[in-house]
Amino acid sequence: MVVDLRSDTVTKPTKEMMEVMFSAEVGDDVLGDDPTVIALEEKSARLFGKEAALFCPSGTMTNQIAIKVHTNAPGEVICDDLAHIYRYEGGGIGFNSGLATKLLKGDRGRFTLEQLQAAISPEDIHFPPSQLVSIENTCNKGGGSLWDIKEIERIATFCKKENLPLHLDGARIFNALVAQNIEAKEMGIHFDSISICLSKGLGCPIGSVLIGSKKFIHQAKRIRKIFGGGMRQAGLIAAAGIYALDNHVERLKIDHNHALLVSEALKDKEWVKSIQKVESNIVIFELKESINQEEFITKMKDVGILLVGMGPQLIRIVTHLDIHEKQVDYLIEKLNKLYLHF
Ligand SMILES: Cc1ncc(COP(=O)(O)O)c(C=O)c1O
Repeated sequence: MVVDLRSDTVTKPTKEMMEVMFSAEVGDDVLGDDPTVIALEEKSARLFGKEAALFCPSGTMTNQIAIKVHTNAPGEVICDDLAHIYRYEGGGIGFNSGLATKLLKGDRGRFTLEQLQAAISPEDIHFPPSQLVSIENTCNKGGGSLWDIKEIERIATFCKKENLPLHLDGARIFNALVAQNIEAKEMGIHFDSISICLSKGLGCPIGSVLIGSKKFIHQAKRIRKIFGGGMRQAGLIAAAGIYALDNHVERLKIDHNHALLVSEALKDKEWVKSIQKVESNIVIFELKESINQEEFITKMKDVGILLVGMGPQLIRIVTHLDIHEKQVDYLIEKLNKLYLHF
C-alpha cells in the first residue's frame, strides 16, 4: 500500500468528478464564452458574497495577480514570515510587482492588529509605502493553523480606515470554514480579494479562483492574460471545481479527524520531541535531535508512507480526500512498529 501524506495536492479526481468533467459544456474562456467557467466564477463569487471571480490555473497565479492589481510600485506588501506569497512563490512579489515585503513574526502564521499597526510605513521617502496586507488562512507552514475571525475583523476594520487593501490567501479556506463552522460570506466580507484553491483539499486536478469586486476582477483578467493564465476550453476543469464545491467541502471534517488521530498516535513516541496542535488537516511534528530526519523519511518510504520535511527536524503529514480510515490505521500501525537508531 502507498499512503501519500506529502500534501493535499496529491489527490486523484474521483470517478464522479471525472464524469462531470467529461460531460462539461465548454466554450473559449479567453473569448469569455465558456459557460462552465462562467458558472464556476459566479458560484464562487456568490459563495463569498462578492461581485465577481476569475478562474486561474494555480493559487500562485491568483495570489500574484491580486498583489499586482492592488499595488503600484514603489511600495510594500505586509504579511507573515511564514506566508506562501513570500516563501514559496519564487520571489514573485518583487519580480512581478516590483514591491518590497515586510514580514511580521506571528504565531504559526497569524499576526495581530497591533503587530500590523506597528509595521505600517510612516510617510517618509526612506520607506516603501505600505500598499497591501495579506493573510493566509489556514496557514500551511503554520501547520494548518486557523485565524481567529475576531482578529481578522479587527485587522479588516483597521485596513479599511487606512485605505489598505486586504487579501486572503485562502488556498485552504474551506478547511478553516469547516473547522470553525463559519459561513464563507462571513469570512468574505472582511477582504478585498480572496484566492481559493480547488486542487488542494477539494480534490480537483487543477485550478484556483480569485474573487473580488467587478472592478478588481476586470483588471485581474488583464493581468491573468499577461501572466499567460488565460485558458481556452477550461470548462472541462471548471466542472471539477463546481463538483468539488458542492461535494467536497463538508467532508473536510473527515480529514481533520484523521489528522487528530495521527497526532494522538505520535504523542507517546520516544523519538518525537514536540507536536504542533492540530487545527485542520496538517500535522507538523519535531523529531528529537538524535534522530536523522532523512533516515526517518526513508524508513517510512520503505513501508509505503510518503512524508515531507518542513524545516530542520520537522515532518509534515497532510490528510486529504484519498486518505481513508484504512490508510490512517496503516500509518499508525507503522508508526507504532518503527524502530529508529538514537
Ligand atoms: C497557502 C498556499 N497558498 C498558495 C499556494 C499555491 O498554490 P499552487 O500550488 O496552486 O500554485 C499553496 C500551495 O501549496 C499554498 O499552500
